[in-house]
Amino acid sequence: MRVALIGAGVVGSSVAQLLIEHSDDLAARVGRPLELVGIGVRRAGRARSVPGVDPALFTTDATELVTRADIVIEVVGGIEPARSLILRAMEHGASVVTANKALLAEDGPTLYAAAARHGVDLYFEAAVAGGIPLLRPLRESLAGDSVRKVMGIVNGTTNYVLDKMDTTGQGFADAVSQAQALGYAEADPTADVEGFDAAAKAAILASLAFHTRVASKDVHREGITEVTAADIQAAKEMDCVVKLLAICERTDDENGSPAGISVRVHPAMIPRRHPLAGVREAFNAVFVEAQAAGQLMFYGRGAGGEPTASAVLGDVVAVARHRVLGGRGPGESAYADLPLLGMGQAMTRYHISLDVADRPGVLAQVATAFAEHHVSIETVRQQQVPASGDASDGSAAAARANLVVVTHAAPDAALSATVDALAALPVVRGVNSVMRVEGV
Ligand SMILES: NC(=O)c1ccc[n+]([C@@H]2O[C@H](COP(=O)([O-])OP(=O)(O)OC[C@H]3O[C@@H](n4cnc5c(N)ncnc54)[C@H](OP(=O)(O)O)[C@@H]3O)[C@@H](O)[C@H]2O)c1
Repeated sequence: MRVALIGAGVVGSSVAQLLIEHSDDLAARVGRPLELVGIGVRRAGRARSVPGVDPALFTTDATELVTRADIVIEVVGGIEPARSLILRAMEHGASVVTANKALLAEDGPTLYAAAARHGVDLYFEAAVAGGIPLLRPLRESLAGDSVRKVMGIVNGTTNYVLDKMDTTGQGFADAVSQAQALGYAEADPTADVEGFDAAAKAAILASLAFHTRVASKDVHREGITEVTAADIQAAKEMDCVVKLLAICERTDDENGSPAGISVRVHPAMIPRRHPLAGVREAFNAVFVEAQAAGQLMFYGRGAGGEPTASAVLGDVVAVARHRVLGGRGPGESAYADLPLLGMGQAMTRYHISLDVADRPGVLAQVATAFAEHHVSIETVRQQQVPASGDASDGSAAAARANLVVVTHAAPDAALSATVDALAALPVVRGVNSVMRVEGV
């Protein structure tokens, strides 16, 4: 079985090493030896030190390499030339294993259609949550069940940053610098901290969970750049922790039939007792709720050369077995074609912390703003803010209080409009923090 590897970076070099190291076991598991026939890279003549790999295997002509393999592993990343190389490989009859979430979330249907047309496999376990077996369980193990919700921490960088903010009280910028110094964040951390990476993964998860095509552009995305030390402190006071969550959720109509799905990425408070709250540092975890299976959680290393290579090689073995036996694994399934709900329609809960004047009638005005938007309040907590001396004109400083409101679930649009209305009330001196609440 001829295997071509395109990309020899963080993931590709681990894949090459494991292919060589485990070649006997892999041959026994597949039923045929896997022969690495070439490694496509961009820069010629660069010193490459992958133990056991013949330097003659490296080539800068990936376009030619993909035409002489039974299985092509694409770990280049990005949209082009990855997409053209994958399509070319399929045209020449190769099955493809990729870790490329960006490409799958942007243009997955083109690749799925090509795989079906050419009768080959397209497997991509490593594209979401690195080494954690997650996509195959969703696609195969849960194929007889009905998934209602997938909620997870799918970006290690942002989890590391939020974890440091929680445990050390650091602000966002300091926590990012520390993550960069330790190699957990890129020099340009935009794709992670702005939620682009998590949104691509959410699109892939939602497509599989709900048998509906979801692309990155369909995902509501908010990153963690606006999360402040005050938000983290507010979460602590609620016995919660702030996490960047990818949430894929099905909404049912009154008869219990699926009415639509919402797919979103945003920071949210979750109770410290929730299993996702215990996911520390750069680890990933995904929580799945299915009708019959109930609650499941998948936890592990979401990135890194070796964990990701483990997922890639698992796919290589699967597609190689299919070729030995003849046939292919399950392809894309988008039969349900559920409508995609906008963020405004997603049912969420808010934690809102307000700086208000501490005098009679304030609570009533605040409660009215909620009622006018049909948002029901779950809890209200008021804490007097100690007076900080006299006002600049010499009069006594006005009494102030910190008012914390947690709502019941309501359409996100209603909650967001309520926050605007609250901010406009003369008795509200400022909105300290607004954060969605999940997992309660
Ligand atoms: N890193 C992780 O932990 C992780 C986890 C999950 C998924 N992934 C996914 O895995 C993929 C690879 O990530 P990575 O971190 O390994 O990337 P990387 O370290 O930047 O490596 C990219 C590799 O692709 C090669 N390459 C770039 N352009 C090429 C071209 N035009 N033709 C042939 N080869 C080309 C590069 O060649 P040179 O060596 O010559 O530069 C390099 O070897 C991405 O899709 C990423 O999203 C990564």
